[in-house]
Amino acid sequence: MRDRFRRTARFWAHALRFILLIWKVDMYLYQSRLKDQIIHSVKDVHVHAEQGVYADAISGMFNVPFGYSCDAIKQRISQTLNDLPFHPKDHFYSQEWFEASAMLLGRAKMDDGALLYVNSGSEAIESSIAMALEYHQRKGNPGKRKVICRKHSYHGATLGAHSITGRNDFQELRNSGYDTIRIHPPFAVTHQGKPLEPHSASDVENIILQSGPEQIACIIFEPVNHLKGMRQSGGEYLAGIRELCDRYDIVMITDEIVTGASRTGDFLNTHRFGVTPDIVALGKGISGGYYPASAMATSAKIASVFEKRGPWIPYSYSHTYASNPVSIASIHASLQVLEQVESSGQLSRLIGKAAGLTRELASNERIARIEASGLLIGLTLDERLGAAAGKKLEQLCFERKLIIRGEENWACLAPAYVMSEDTLTEAFEVLNESIDHL
Ligand SMILES: Cc1ncc(COP(=O)(O)O)c(C=O)c1O
Repeated sequence: MRDRFRRTARFWAHALRFILLIWKVDMYLYQSRLKDQIIHSVKDVHVHAEQGVYADAISGMFNVPFGYSCDAIKQRISQTLNDLPFHPKDHFYSQEWFEASAMLLGRAKMDDGALLYVNSGSEAIESSIAMALEYHQRKGNPGKRKVICRKHSYHGATLGAHSITGRNDFQELRNSGYDTIRIHPPFAVTHQGKPLEPHSASDVENIILQSGPEQIACIIFEPVNHLKGMRQSGGEYLAGIRELCDRYDIVMITDEIVTGASRTGDFLNTHRFGVTPDIVALGKGISGGYYPASAMATSAKIASVFEKRGPWIPYSYSHTYASNPVSIASIHASLQVLEQVESSGQLSRLIGKAAGLTRELASNERIARIEASGLLIGLTLDERLGAAAGKKLEQLCFERKLIIRGEENWACLAPAYVMSEDTLTEAFEVLNESIDHL
């Protein structure tokens, strides 16, 4: 009773403060989505907010794989913040930089390659494309400047990343950045109300030949397509693209900002199919979501066009905060926690559980397609439920205190690797019930 009184009092206190703020200040904030309520705290895999406790089944923004209470990462970050918050970057480096980088390159299967740290996924994407252009320039092929990218993709929020992103609502910004060639994803989708034929690797080859391979710098795509509800590119397609890139000297870039850090089982999603790209963009989960940190890892082939000085490749482009000691500590600690979660069998057990729950949910007739790539679960709703059913499903789940992501006619989940099997089962039950209420 007292608790309820306290909660109500807190709610009205916040509401009053908010009303006063809006009333007193003519203030606006740019936001990608309208917000529902004030948040109080996060714990394990739960969000505590004004209107109750929510189970987070999308790991924050797909970036908190170890939940919100991972002491090992928090302690390493706070210790580094105490001892080495920053340093003049031109003259010094930290021991941890090397340890973390060796681990990250090893996990990407690019041990003899090279690594560039940045702060966000969008920067990792931009750096990857800049690197592909520079690779061709250094090899004496400056004419190779075109970027092959996919319709229905998402690559980030900077202007260059906008220009290769294939979301419908980014249409106006597409011509502002890179010189692009847009291919279809390797699965059937509806685009602006019309069906879009899937492009196989041989279709992509025809497009390369029509445009002229001597003009094409790179191809970039997400191996699991986020928009359209987590659609996995098949092994044959991935191997086919790898082969085309080798044949026509095109840099193969994969965006594993969501799928990296073992989200789909293997460290990189393409490893599941025995494929390693030339460049991989990593972000989100590699720092456990506790600190902004992203990276671009390149293979030995890309690194070979640069001069090396000891362990360094002199490279003039760096962001002020890139590879700062705190971000490196967050990556290092996260990779160590990841190893524990993997070696204890916790990750594979939860992946097995998710696969079983996904199979059961598939019997719901309102679902047209559902698939789980490790702990990335995506579904497409039956078209009879309407073009906005995914967004509605997200709201119905939210009302039942479950956080998922939904847009158009699709929805997805990305549970934390440390979620309990019971919480995951409950999440699927709420999802099923919400689908029935659509
Ligand atoms: C697949 C993919 N690529 C790139 C990005 C951009 O990352 P960031 O938001 O860290 O800039 C995102 C972000 O959601 C993403 O999902």
